[in-house]
Amino acid sequence: MEIRTRNGSYEVRLADFDRAMAALPGGCFVVTDENVAALHGHRLPASCQTVVVPAGEGSKSLGTYQGVVERLLDLGADRGSTVVALGGGVVGDLAGFVAATFMRGVRLIQVPTSLVAMVDSSVGGKVGLDLPTGKNLIGAFYPPSMVLVPVDALETLPRRHLANGMAEVWKYAYILDRELGERLESFEAVPAGEEMAEVVSRCICLKAEVVEQDELDRHGRRAVLNFGHTVGHALEVLTGYESLLHGEAVAIGMVAEAKLGERLGLTPAGLSERLRADLERSGLPTRHELLGRTEDVLRAMRRDKKAEAGVLAFSLLTDYGSCRLVAGVSESDVECALMEACGA
Ligand SMILES: NC(=O)c1ccc[n+]([C@@H]2O[C@H](COP(=O)([O-])OP(=O)(O)OC[C@H]3O[C@@H](n4cnc5c(N)ncnc54)[C@H](O)[C@@H]3O)[C@@H](O)[C@H]2O)c1
Ligand SMILES: [Zn+2]
Repeated sequence: MEIRTRNGSYEVRLADFDRAMAALPGGCFVVTDENVAALHGHRLPASCQTVVVPAGEGSKSLGTYQGVVERLLDLGADRGSTVVALGGGVVGDLAGFVAATFMRGVRLIQVPTSLVAMVDSSVGGKVGLDLPTGKNLIGAFYPPSMVLVPVDALETLPRRHLANGMAEVWKYAYILDRELGERLESFEAVPAGEEMAEVVSRCICLKAEVVEQDELDRHGRRAVLNFGHTVGHALEVLTGYESLLHGEAVAIGMVAEAKLGERLGLTPAGLSERLRADLERSGLPTRHELLGRTEDVLRAMRRDKKAEAGVLAFSLLTDYGSCRLVAGVSESDVECALMEACGA
């Protein structure tokens, strides 16, 4: 599949891991993390050189960034080199930012190995780093020259991270594609094998369609992807990014925001509970006691960069498979929805 950008286009190709490796150009520089290196490092082409970073969000830091750049220089990388981001979203964002800035930009190939990276971070061109004061505060739009998606790599992904990615998959279904949702509901458990390949491919198409309409995140179209994220981000902030994975916070956030939509008369009644059941079947949490601390959640939401000029904006469901951006939601409606979502 071809994704158009303002400067051309790039190809996204599903391939098994070994085929993806065979498609890499000779002499490329693979950036990966220690988990992926331990599990799959032996399958890399002999002509590639590898830079391994610690696993986890901590690697999206200026310190790790500098370390990678220095290592690339030691290994002889130059302006004509290709950087390959082999890993989850952390490696994708870090190696992507390295590629965007090393010698003012070198070729980037994304090889996402987590479900989050496959359906979300590897497509759309956003790359970046965190600062101690906040996540993704440094970054660039830097589309890759190619994305190779080895769906079979998910076989080694821990279950919690698989569920984490399913939160974004359900998000695409509920905001954009009821057919995808019903297909997911027909599976007995989290999809695997061919079923997963079909789901991943559909999600990439959906994200690509949205991103093509608003590549630089300026017209509001890309913001529809934030369903569940306004409440979700607030929960991540309030839990110090420790106890909840992003997808888990988003799952809880999606149910709360579906309740909000129901409250405002935008979302059909009962859809929030259908969503809750779907998320729970995928092993995701859908409640959190912190939702009941409505003042804290609201404060965190007001500070979020998405709450421009203090106005709370949400991407809310208008049906199963459609959504729209709603700005200026009243805080009392949000409070009621939060209380309802936490079961109080
Ligand atoms: N750029 C974007 O548009 C975008 C979108 C969504 C998320 N993100 C970023 O992505 C990051 C989260 O991504 P993530 O959830 O993939 O986290 P991650 O990269 O930390 O990967 C999750 C865990 O799975 C491990 N892992 C990855 N692939 C594996 C495999 N095949 N087998 C076994 N273990 C494997 C990793 O080592 C890690 O421990 C965040 O930093 C977030 O900000 C960016
Ligand atoms: Zn997300």
